[in-house]
Amino acid sequence: MSDSPRHFWSFHSAGRIVFGSDSALRLPDFLQRWKPHRVLIVTDQILIKAGIVDTVIAPLQKSGVSASVFDGGEPEPSIDVALSALEMAKRVQPEVIVGVGGGSNMDVAKIVSNVFVHGGSLCDYFGYDKIPGPILPLVCLPTTSGTGSEVSHAAVLTDTANQMKVSTLSQFLRPDLAVVDPKLTLTCPERPTADSGIDALTHAIEALTATRFDELNVSVNEAFPYEGKQPIGDCLAERAIELIGRHLIKAVHEPSNLEAREGMSLAATMAGLAFSNNAVAIVHALEYPLGGTLHCSHGAGNGLLLPHVMKFNLPSRIPEFHRIAQLLGENVDGMSIEEGAKQAIAGVERISRKIGIPQRIRDLGGKREQLPEFASKSFAIKRLMLLNPRQPTESDLLSILEAAF
Ligand SMILES: NC(=O)c1ccc[n+]([C@@H]2O[C@H](COP(=O)([O-])OP(=O)(O)OC[C@H]3O[C@@H](n4cnc5c(N)ncnc54)[C@H](O)[C@@H]3O)[C@@H](O)[C@H]2O)c1
Ligand SMILES: [Zn+2]
Repeated sequence: MSDSPRHFWSFHSAGRIVFGSDSALRLPDFLQRWKPHRVLIVTDQILIKAGIVDTVIAPLQKSGVSASVFDGGEPEPSIDVALSALEMAKRVQPEVIVGVGGGSNMDVAKIVSNVFVHGGSLCDYFGYDKIPGPILPLVCLPTTSGTGSEVSHAAVLTDTANQMKVSTLSQFLRPDLAVVDPKLTLTCPERPTADSGIDALTHAIEALTATRFDELNVSVNEAFPYEGKQPIGDCLAERAIELIGRHLIKAVHEPSNLEAREGMSLAATMAGLAFSNNAVAIVHALEYPLGGTLHCSHGAGNGLLLPHVMKFNLPSRIPEFHRIAQLLGENVDGMSIEEGAKQAIAGVERISRKIGIPQRIRDLGGKREQLPEFASKSFAIKRLMLLNPRQPTESDLLSILEAAF
């Protein structure tokens, strides 16, 4: 650690982002860069039943590419699921890995692309910057509008033994190609649409309100997975918040509304770019033990915690919260900037209730006596504490959890 602030920031992205309805049908053209004979599609049985895997495979087969399918994906995937997918990759020897699904399947695809090339055990790479070089060409097609994994440097698994989420973070994990086809989200059911949508909102808000890049207390030579609040990430986060304010409730209640689905797909990818450069912070830190223990979806856990963390962060980020309120469409006319800033929290609560996000930890089956352990496990994720605009103590984290209980 060094006290001298960093005077620069950088911005990373997926190699190429293709965006638009029916773009998935052109996948063989986009793959031409690698001229693959064999690809491995990492997905799950629900997406096969929904016909999405067929939509992706049919044009591949037409173009003469052999596509094998790993269909063992699950929500919030365990380390064992990633190991099974890796075994299949070793048998198939693909030249490209294609993740089709929500964050869960895309993250398994990322882990496989890495360990297939660099060997060793999955846990060798947990943490930041442990991947030594480029991974197998990786393509991601999101079917939810939420995680931004299609552009991010993260892959998250559930360590069932320790009841904790574990992240692998590396700039080498950013997909070479993200094909964001909003039509792939039309079959996404109400719960994952709502949960993943509020995850995207959490990404954008945590990115926009994070510790500034030049106030991050990390040395210039230290490998650190986030840049802190910086201008390109901020632009993307602001636009994502506006799109989510306009489209999330509609996408949940009118699932076949393509305009809403397109808005949410764009928002989620933008929020993914924003958070994976700027930051996520203590909402995510608190969700890791909560989700790992109570087995709620990542989005539901984040959505529940978000307003409570915003209340804690409010004093440090008044102008940003005022902006968030405006972007979410809250009426702040005639209010002081402080009053307007509070409306950001009201706006998030309004959306959260309208899309049925659980409002209390006890609604997820949590027990009050579990809260100190959640606080202590979250507090141990130091990188996420540093990125939060207001430095929490462990007892602050416990108070936030108690308020959310
Ligand atoms: N890598 C990252 O940057 C990052 C960021 C945030 C979260 N995550 C991780 O992503 C995971 C959550 O991903 P998610 O919120 O996208 O949900 P998900 O991938 O877990 O999907 C939830 C369920 O919805 C189904 N589903 C998804 N799309 C569908 C569609 N179009 N039609 C029918 N069913 C569909 C899936 O089969 C699954 O059963 C968690 O493990 C979380 O930790 C990763
Ligand atoms: Zn998230």
